[in-house]
Amino acid sequence: MKLLIPLVMFVLFTVGNVAWAADAKAGKAVYDTKCKSCHGAGGEGNAALAKTLKVEIKPFGSKEIQAKTDDQIKKQITQGGVKMQPVKGLSDTQVQDVIAFVRLGFPLLAAGDAQAGKVVYESKCKTCHGAGGEGNTALAKTLKVEFKPLASKEVQAKNDADLKKVVTQGIGKMKPVPGLSDKQVENVVAFVRLGFPLLAAGDAQAGKVVYDSKCKTCHGAGGEGNAALAKTLKVEFKHLGSKQVQAKTNDQLKKESTEGIGKMQPVKGLSDTQVQDLIAFVRSLAKS
Ligand code: HEC
Ligand code: HEC
Ligand code: HEC
Repeated sequence: MKLLIPLVMFVLFTVGNVAWAADAKAGKAVYDTKCKSCHGAGGEGNAALAKTLKVEIKPFGSKEIQAKTDDQIKKQITQGGVKMQPVKGLSDTQVQDVIAFVRLGFPLLAAGDAQAGKVVYESKCKTCHGAGGEGNTALAKTLKVEFKPLASKEVQAKNDADLKKVVTQGIGKMKPVPGLSDKQVENVVAFVRLGFPLLAAGDAQAGKVVYDSKCKTCHGAGGEGNAALAKTLKVEFKHLGSKQVQAKTNDQLKKESTEGIGKMQPVKGLSDTQVQDLIAFVRSLAKS
C-alpha cells in the first residue's frame, strides 16, 4: 500500500510553491528507480550495503549532506564517490530533479512533523478519507456527499488555518475530530499538505512491475519498442523516453496507455493507482 512507502514522499510540498514542487515530484520517480535501493526510502542509507562496502552512507537528511552544493551532489551522481559508482542514464533534467528531491524532501522528513502527522492521519482520518486521501467511496454514498481528494487543487488551495478549522470544527457533513492536541492538529495538517500531492505522483518502482507485465512485450524493457513487432504491424515505435512522448501530459499518457492509440489496443485491467504508478515509471524512462 502506498502509505507504507516510507515518508520520503510526504514532505515535499510547501504551501503554494508549485514551481519547484513539480521538479521534486519528477525527482521522486528518479530517486525511486535509481537511488532508493542503496540510499533507502527515507534517505537513511542501506545499512547492509554500507557494511559490505565498508563505507559510511550518510543520511540525506543530515547536515553534512545538506551542506553540499548542488554541484557537489551532481558530481556525486554523475561521477560517483568513494565507493558509489556513477549513476548512468540520467538526463540533465533528471539529475536536477533528483537533487531537488534530495534537497527538499529529506530535511523536512527529518523534522518529523509530517511523520507525526501521518500517525494522526492513520488513526483519525484514514477510515473516511482513505490511505491516499482519495475518500472512502462507500461512505460517500451513504452520506450522500462527495469527498474531494485531499491532494486536489481545491483542498490544497485552503490555507493552513482553514485546514485546521476543518479538523477542529468540521465542515459540511464532517464532524469535528475529537481528542487531538494543537500539536497533533498542526502535524496532521502538515501531512495533508505535504503528503498527498506527492502520493498522487505515483510510485515509479511499483509502476515498473505494471510495465513489465503489461507493456514490455511490445515496448521493450527500456521503452525502446519491439523491433520485430514494429515490422509486423508496419508501425514505428517511438521510444517512450523520447522527447515527443515525454512532451505529452500525464493525462495524455494515461489515456494512450489505457485506451490505446493508433495500432495499439487498449490495455485492460489496470486500477487508477496502477496507471499513476505506470506513468511515474514512463517518466523515469526520459532520455536527455
Ligand atoms: C549501487 C548503490 C548506489 C546507488 C544506486 C546510488 N548511490 Fe549514492 N552512495 C552510495 C554509497 C555506497 C555512498 C557512500 C559514499 C561514497 O561511496 O561516496 C553514496 C553516497 C552518496 C552521497 C553522499 C556523498 C558523501 O559525501 O557522503 C550522495 C549525495 C549520493 N550518494 C547521491 C545519490 C543519488 C542522488 C543517487 C541516485 C541518482 C545515488 N546516490 C545512487 C551508493 C549508491
Ligand atoms: C467520520 C468520517 C470523517 C473523519 C474521521 C474525517 N473526515 Fe474529513 N471529511 C469527511 C466528510 C464526509 C467530508 C466532506 C464534507 C462535506 O463536503 O460535507 C470531509 C471533508 C474534509 C476536508 C475537505 C473540506 C473541503 O474542502 O471539502 C478536509 C481537508 C478534511 N475532511 C480533513 C480531515 C482530516 C485531516 C481528518 C482527520 C484529522 C478528517 N478529515 C477526518 C469525513 C471525515
Ligand atoms: C500489444 C502491443 C502493445 C502493448 C501491450 C502496449 N502497447 Fe503501447 N503501443 C503499441 C503500438 C503498436 C504503438 C504505436 C501506435 C501507433 O503509432 O499506431 C503504441 C504506442 C504507445 C504510446 C504512444 C507513443 C507515441 O507514439 O506517441 C504510448 C504512450 C504507449 N503506447 C504506452 C503504453 C503503455 C504504458 C503500455 C502498458 C500499459 C502499452 N503501451 C502497452 C503497442 C502496445
